[in-house]
Amino acid sequence: MTKKFSFFHKHPELYEKGFDYRKVDQQVNFLDKVFLKYKVKSVLDIACGHTPQGRKLAKKGYKVTGIDLSGSLLKLASKRAKEEGVKIKLYKKDMKKFKVGKFDAAYIMFSSILHMNKEKDLVSHFKSVNSNLKKGGLYIIDLSSLPFEFPNKPAKYSVKKGDLTTEMIYAPSKTSKSQAKFTCISLLKDKKVNETFSIVLRYLPLVLLIKLAKQTGFEVKELYKDFTRSKTLNKKKEEYIAVLRKK
Ligand SMILES: C[S@@+](CC[C@H](N)C(=O)[O-])C[C@H]1O[C@@H](n2cnc3c(N)ncnc32)[C@H](O)[C@@H]1O
Repeated sequence: MTKKFSFFHKHPELYEKGFDYRKVDQQVNFLDKVFLKYKVKSVLDIACGHTPQGRKLAKKGYKVTGIDLSGSLLKLASKRAKEEGVKIKLYKKDMKKFKVGKFDAAYIMFSSILHMNKEKDLVSHFKSVNSNLKKGGLYIIDLSSLPFEFPNKPAKYSVKKGDLTTEMIYAPSKTSKSQAKFTCISLLKDKKVNETFSIVLRYLPLVLLIKLAKQTGFEVKELYKDFTRSKTLNKKKEEYIAVLRKK
């Protein structure tokens, strides 16, 4: 299967802390509204990490399953779920190709689909998601906060949370127009604590998403700009949330 994979491996709680500025309640309300509309009961959280959204959905009564490739983040997800008294099934799986059940809906948050950094992996991913959904099942793809301003422009930014600083460097590939190296460093009181890790991300413009969706048995049902439910897409930055439906 997959080669060695590192995602905040040593200190997964630093991922949790570093990115807790996100409005998870707003995200969950968004998902809940879509799920109510389509009568969804069972959901699959893809690239769930410590599953901040999945735990809240489980509290609301949804049957939640999560998959991720990082053993450390899955362990943290399981610990948090126990602390909060919620039940979630968790599996260590590569989202490129997996089989864990048949769900009413699946979702992938925080631009995590960009980890599928080759077109053939994206096709395989969409086919896998399709095969894990019931007929008419939904796939919600959150690309509403990209790790760059422009896909072909290098970027460097950091997030500060108390003593913790998370530095991120986005470096577009010199050989591929759609790929970039993304490096992440965690510093506690300016001292490096997690191993520095780099991953390759792939830019996923809406035209490509629509093409892939059609090719793999989905229709695009709804498009939003962000979790405020605004449907006016950003013309300058290709950020969006797509709601796909299995045909
Ligand atoms: C930006 S984090 C998002 C985590 C979580 N969904 C959230 O909202 O905080 C990206 C996640 O993708 C996972 N990931 C990366 N590549 C993956 C793959 N091939 N299969 C499954 N999970 C993967 C990482 O381990 C990490 O948990």
